[in-house]
Order: sequence, then structure tokens, then C-alpha cells
Amino acid sequence: MTSGADWSGRVGATWAAEWHRTERAFADIARVLDAAITATAPVAGRAADVGCGVGSTTLALAAARPGLRVIGVDLAAPLVAVARERARACAREADDDADRERRVDFLVGDAAAVLPTLGGLDLIVSRHGVMFFDDPVVSFTAMARAARPGAPLVFSCFRTREENDWASALGAALGATPRPTGAYAPGPFGFADRALTRDILAAAGWRDEGATRHDVRYVVGSGDDPIADALAFFRRIGPAAAALAAAEPDERAVMERRIAAALAPRIRDGAVAFTAAIWVWVARAGEPS
Ligand SMILES: C[S@@+](CC[C@H](N)C(=O)[O-])C[C@H]1O[C@@H](n2cnc3c(N)ncnc32)[C@H](O)[C@@H]1O
Repeated sequence: MTSGADWSGRVGATWAAEWHRTERAFADIARVLDAAITATAPVAGRAADVGCGVGSTTLALAAARPGLRVIGVDLAAPLVAVARERARACAREADDDADRERRVDFLVGDAAAVLPTLGGLDLIVSRHGVMFFDDPVVSFTAMARAARPGAPLVFSCFRTREENDWASALGAALGATPRPTGAYAPGPFGFADRALTRDILAAAGWRDEGATRHDVRYVVGSGDDPIADALAFFRRIGPAAAALAAAEPDERAVMERRIAAALAPRIRDGAVAFTAAIWVWVARAGEPS
């Protein structure tokens, strides 16, 4: 379980330090999500990227829709600092500083508190940023009220742990595979259950909700020593990180040997790659009640 409090503290700081590796892992998720966003995004108006992290979805949307103002919102200040720096670098590269300054913005805070202050949004997006809400009906209700009636919501999230072989391989290597309870729990697999997610969205005032399944490449290690690189990733990010950090040195060495053995058969073309099994959800904001 990873909650909002974890993101505004230790987990957010770790993701900010490791953002190049998380970007590499999420590159193919971005490909399918960004296509779904572009298919629904209006040409003008204002959009919010919920749980924007280092701003990849925010920046991709701003590049795809020059008429849209895009605001990234995230609990973790260190991630937002990286996002702001990346936005400045993009603007310098594109030689359009002033224009990007106006069109992209990043705010630190809880989406449920920040989005109502923005109001009248024409689009809300999120790449894997919505499954950590403590109370998802409360947060999605705030998001629906901040959107114009009919405005699209487009987000990605993981399907089950079992379908995500990177997670099940880690669970098997560590001898710990938590069983789903059927109830919502904040964390990477919080929205794995399609029916549960649909119920949450409907209860929060979203309409016409539909999910598409995608299986995409999830690269966890590359470079001169892809296994060492993947181990460095899993030591800091994802479900093995807490278990490895809590273990005594001897025990940790055994755990890492087991993880390395699970990674070895996954090397292809110089990279350790698994499959990310994801949902891409699209819904529309209902009329305010
Ligand atoms: C798995 S990361 C994804 C980050 C980014 N969207 C990406 O794809 O790289 C989840 C993000 O959601 C943010 N987050 C979690 N709960 C949030 C909340 N209630 N309001 C705003 N951001 C939140 C976290 O701080 C974190 O940056």
C-alpha cells in the first residue's frame, strides 16, 4: 500500500532521484496513454494532469495541443521541481520560452484540494497518478466538479499484480505475493479491478466510462550491466524496495540474488524487459447534481 502521505515524503523524493529510470519503464505506457489523450483532447481551453510527477504527460499534451493551457498537479514537491525544470528546458529547446511559460504550469498539492480552485477544466488526464487516493470517491468527485460537464477524463493504471509479470516475478523472488481483497486499497494495483473502478467513477459523477486493456513493454534495466541497473531500480522503486530496505545485509544479499535470477531470463537486446498490463480509462464529467 502506498498512500498520499508516502508520496509527499520519502517515496516522492526517491521517484524524483530516479526519474530517468521511471521514465524509461513508463515510455510504452506513455505511448498508448498519450494517443488516447490526443484522441479526446480539445484544441483550446484548460487541462489538468493529476499526479503529474516529473510532468511527462503534461508536457506531451502541451506539445500536442498548442491551444491548450496544461496544469500539472502533484503532492510531491521534489517531483514538481523536476517537472518545472523540464518545462523550462523544453521551452528553451523549442525557442518559445514566453509561450510555454503561459501554457504550462505546475502546482504542489492534493488534486482533490487544488482542482476545485482551477474550476471549469476542459480535460483531466493522469498517467498512473490516481490510484493512490485515500478516498477515491471523494477525490474523483472533486475532479468531476472541477470539470465542465462533458469534459473528458483520461487516465492509465495497472491491471492486476498477476498480469504484471514484473510484479509477480518480484513477489515470487521474495516469497511474498499479497492476495487481492476485492476492496480498494491505495497503491499501484488499487484500480486493477475494472468493475470496482467503474463503480468508483460512477459514484463520483463521471459518465460513459470505459476501459481499454493494453500490454506494453516495461524496461527495468539497460546499459552495460542491465541486471545491475534493474536491481538498482528495484532497490528504490516499486514493491520490492521496502522489503529490501528493511532486510538485514545477509538476508538482503539473498533476496537480491533471487531477484537477479528472475531478471536474467528477461534480457533481450541488451535490456531487461517485462510486460506492463494496464487499463486506459476514458470517462466524461456528468452534469453537476
Ligand atoms: C506512479 S506516480 C506517476 C507520476 C507521473 N504521472 C508519471 O507517470 O511519471 C504517482 C504520482 O501521483 C502523485 N499523487 C498521488 N496522490 C496524489 C494526490 N492525491 N494528489 C496529487 N498527486 C498525487 C504522486 O505524488 C506521484 O507523483
